[in-house]
Amino acid sequence: MSNSGEAELLHTFKGIRFTTRSSPELLKSLDTFDAREDDVLLVSYPKSGTHWLAGVITKLYNTQVTITSPIEFGDISQLEELNKLSSKRIIPTHLDYNMLPPNFKSKKCKMIYISRNPKDTAVSMFHYYRDNPDLPTVDTWPAFFDLFLKGNVVCGSWFDHFLSWEEHEDEKNILFLFYEDMKKDLPKVVKEISLFLNLTVSDNDIQDICEKSSFAEMKNDTQKENSDPNHTVCALTSNRRLIFRKGAVGDWKNYFTPKQNIRFQEIFDEKMKLSKM
Ligand code: A3P
Repeated sequence: MSNSGEAELLHTFKGIRFTTRSSPELLKSLDTFDAREDDVLLVSYPKSGTHWLAGVITKLYNTQVTITSPIEFGDISQLEELNKLSSKRIIPTHLDYNMLPPNFKSKKCKMIYISRNPKDTAVSMFHYYRDNPDLPTVDTWPAFFDLFLKGNVVCGSWFDHFLSWEEHEDEKNILFLFYEDMKKDLPKVVKEISLFLNLTVSDNDIQDICEKSSFAEMKNDTQKENSDPNHTVCALTSNRRLIFRKGAVGDWKNYFTPKQNIRFQEIFDEKMKLSKM
């Protein structure tokens, strides 16, 4: 693996790797962020289906809400920008639970955490590393596999991220979702989200939202001439075209060797022994 760009593109804050798109000053100041009671946080480890979920939520609200840029994106002026917004804020973030501004916790803001099979997440992230100029170069899948298992990737260890949030899954203001459930029965998950957000939607609306949120539709939208490709809910790129790759469950089987699968499983079993997953 070539580490080209690693030193210029990444920095470490509280033991977790961030891109330089998240300035250290901003990360340090997150503790003072002024959350509002009606803020909704959209939380994920990268490549877990954040944009899909954001698409569903935007369609569910259908009015005056703003999906902001991720809270950890940019320099210190980001906090002021978010403060200035007068509309209801849907705030995306890849932050670990422990790094979340404490105000979101004390004000019991609604938070939706989306997770995905870490094997598929790893494969998706491998491609993201390859295609995204804001991330260091990775030459091969085996090299990336090692980095992922060690947590030496942007946003840190998948296991630590998941566990930090899972510890809070029973809190009423936190909704836990899985990418695979969205693939299996999207209308059911959309209904669940609408109930959690106290939104009234008809079955027809749900049907319509699901059709417009299919992988093909969402990918197509980014290719339309009038679409804005320069807006993402991921602090790692602004290029929406990098997001929609394959949208499948089980793509890991095309990448993991049997040996890698055993190694992954061993580490998964060890790290997740206290998890309900
Ligand atoms: P793949 O790389 O496996 O295709 P995130 O939004 O958190 O960055 O996650 C990106 C992943 O979600 C990508 O996975 C992308 O293709 C997938 N995705 C995005 N929109 C989707 C949709 N409407 N249906 C299914 N998967 C989707």
